[in-house]
Amino acid sequence: MSDVFTKCVEWKDADLAKEMDLYPFYQAIEASYGATEVSVQGRRMIMIGSNNYLGLSADPRVKEAAFNAIQRYGTTASGSRLLNGTLALHEELEAKLARFLRREAAMVVSTGFQTNLAAISALPDRGDIVFADRFNHASLVDGLRLSQGIEQRYWHNDMAHLEELLAGSDPAVGKLIVADGVFSMDGDVCDLPGILALARKYGARVVIDDAHAMGVLGAKGRGTAEYFGLEDELDLVTGTFSKSFASLGGVIAGPARVINYIRHKARSVIFSAALPPPCAAAALKALEILEEEPERVTRLMDIAEKMHNGLRAMGYDTGGSVTPIIPVMIGDRMRCFALWKALFQEGIFTNPVTPPAVSAGRELLRTSYMATHTDAQLDRVLEAFERLGRRLGLIPRTRPSSYVPVQLARPGGQVPLRKSA
Ligand SMILES: Cc1ncc(COP(=O)(O)O)c(C=O)c1O
Repeated sequence: MSDVFTKCVEWKDADLAKEMDLYPFYQAIEASYGATEVSVQGRRMIMIGSNNYLGLSADPRVKEAAFNAIQRYGTTASGSRLLNGTLALHEELEAKLARFLRREAAMVVSTGFQTNLAAISALPDRGDIVFADRFNHASLVDGLRLSQGIEQRYWHNDMAHLEELLAGSDPAVGKLIVADGVFSMDGDVCDLPGILALARKYGARVVIDDAHAMGVLGAKGRGTAEYFGLEDELDLVTGTFSKSFASLGGVIAGPARVINYIRHKARSVIFSAALPPPCAAAALKALEILEEEPERVTRLMDIAEKMHNGLRAMGYDTGGSVTPIIPVMIGDRMRCFALWKALFQEGIFTNPVTPPAVSAGRELLRTSYMATHTDAQLDRVLEAFERLGRRLGLIPRTRPSSYVPVQLARPGGQVPLRKSA
């Protein structure tokens, strides 16, 4: 007889990594100092592994809003939005998000993951086809698994492959194209102009997950469609509050009838408790700050450009990223852990990304930045990357004579797409 627990006892990967003192996961943060520095294992570290792009989780206005929401509503909504869990605060947040994102309607969900489960699982009917980028986030992949649609994966950002699949499909069936706006591990941007052109040609609808694009891309931080000047053409956008919005939760925004349908059909919405009051209030305040202080987005891009080009000048490969998610491509699991560990010992917190999060041979160290990082912190990070990279043989002993600089989008401007391999 087989026991489903047997594999748990036999699985030793994490134990082996711990024995080698190379286990990087579940590191407990003991305290946060303005979000850009944290304490781990009793040591103060510079945090370049967070998605807190605008640094707003440490903002006193955001903290106060969360505190006031607890005073008014208590700590939780104690039930589903459908029944007892909808608060006036959720409705206020939805109205502000719809206006900010320039959509007819928006709905708030309890996590970003559940947001994508909701949007992608509710829309396709049996026989409909969902065309998905190979590098899409797990929540989009799982949403599709829960849907009745048929999955067709296209090569990452490969419009020729997407067109081949669309052209080969039955014109009579419903079609949905789904992609991350900014890809979470590589920091590159989806080819939205290409996707929308194909969607028009083949009668498909488009959903873009802007988890890493809201507060990051576009002059006002409205995301991928703003970045490309295509806000009127995108059907549905999803996002999360756990990154730029300094909270937890997510949003789906688009046509009012579609939002109304998802609200009443999506199981991850109707069978799960509503977003807690402090989370809704924190996201709402973060959104207000983003609208009032768009210079935070510019500062974030300045920082990203400094770090991209600082690392590239040393000989590191930052892939196809054009955002503050800067992968340092390593291509080998043990070398990736070695660099992570060396930086950790120097007081720099990064994220090693290895299979299954990326395919074998694409191992990388994911770094990500906040608008509130200081130049002194960033210079310390760059100095450590250079010294440790040389010591570990990851970059040449002397700087390469030339490198291809990365130029990032600024308000009003656009940059050409760069593509991750
Ligand atoms: C692209 C993308 N979509 C969705 C999510 C899920 O968001 P959350 O962590 O807020 O549930 C994430 C989070 O890692 C993400 O990177």
